[in-house]
Amino acid sequence: MYICRLKNICTMDTVVSGIRPTGLLHLGNYFGALRNFIKMQDENDCYFFIADYHSLTTHPTPTDLQTNVRNVLIDYIAAGLNPEKATIYVQSDVPEVCELSLLLSMNVYVGELQRVASFKEKVRRQPQNVNAGLLNYPVLMAADILLHRADKVPVGKDQEQHLEMTRDFAQRFNHIYKHEYFKLPVAYNFGNELVKIPGLDGSTKMSKSDNENSCIYLADTPEVVRKKVMKAVSDSGPTEPGQPKSQAVENLFQLMKAVSAPDALQFFEDQYQNCSIRYGDMKKQLASDMIAFIQPIHERIMELRSQNDYISKVAKIGAEKARASADKTIREVREIIGFKTL
Ligand code: ADP
Ligand code: TRP
Repeated sequence: MYICRLKNICTMDTVVSGIRPTGLLHLGNYFGALRNFIKMQDENDCYFFIADYHSLTTHPTPTDLQTNVRNVLIDYIAAGLNPEKATIYVQSDVPEVCELSLLLSMNVYVGELQRVASFKEKVRRQPQNVNAGLLNYPVLMAADILLHRADKVPVGKDQEQHLEMTRDFAQRFNHIYKHEYFKLPVAYNFGNELVKIPGLDGSTKMSKSDNENSCIYLADTPEVVRKKVMKAVSDSGPTEPGQPKSQAVENLFQLMKAVSAPDALQFFEDQYQNCSIRYGDMKKQLASDMIAFIQPIHERIMELRSQNDYISKVAKIGAEKARASADKTIREVREIIGFKTL
């Protein structure tokens, strides 16, 4: 039995992913990332963390970093992550990642970092704070992933370019130091297209960094979910059969696809196509399907919020396991590069 288990671990893929503690987790985080974390934890060697270093790139003086980290950890567990199956930890509890980030950065060029889409977008959004951490974001992210020598990284569509860069950096390291050390990890969604869940305000991506009302949080109460959905942006309705959908209406259909039964989706699709759709009815259906989906998670979140000792214990055990894996990689990387203890 024991030998069997060991053998199994050897053939398992390693999975790494993280979410920044910049707010409560929403349906975009769930369908883009967390849902796959949960699906993957049984059959892979998984490391899921809370990217608190990364959050400083946009939230340099977070008012309540501890509370936000704790809330993301609670959301992880409430949604179904099991600390006995996956290693769940806080990024800053494993400072080895900083050393790997530094070592990788020696073979990364400023020009390639300046061309990254997420960097350019942040420069536009926060011109008053174009910090070096923002520029270095993809290097720290590559270090998170390579620290455990991952094979697969479950993330949403917006992270695709960061994963391409991680592979470039890994390949470059292997080439420069003449050692096939790092695997080349891929953004993973079980062979399907990566997911992008839209917002309720007509924006193409639900995001916790944006408008609160465009996001449905896993911790939202049924009343709040209903209110937000009923206020979602739509349009004045189709006037001729087969008319293309506006972005806001397309978003409502996308959200329905994520949480509702296929026949409900088809029903409103048909109504849209023959111009008889009433968005109020569609929103009512969407709200009740979202509530049915979120309510069990919401209830577990409320229970876990009072279990401080348990949450601290999960973080402590996770940090120990993640540090053991990180320490091994750092030792090997140092040796490959040529650092010697005198
Ligand atoms: P946010 O954009 O809300 O600040 P993060 O950047 O911390 O969230 O994202 C954490 C994870 O959730 C990443 O894997 C990201 O791809 C995924 N994610 C975030 N928003 C969405 C979305 N709207 N649709 C799909 N995946 C998303
Ligand atoms: N950049 C990711 C995001 O904004 C968060 C993240 C940091 C991450 N390090 C990572 C995701 C490593 C996957 C793997 O969503």
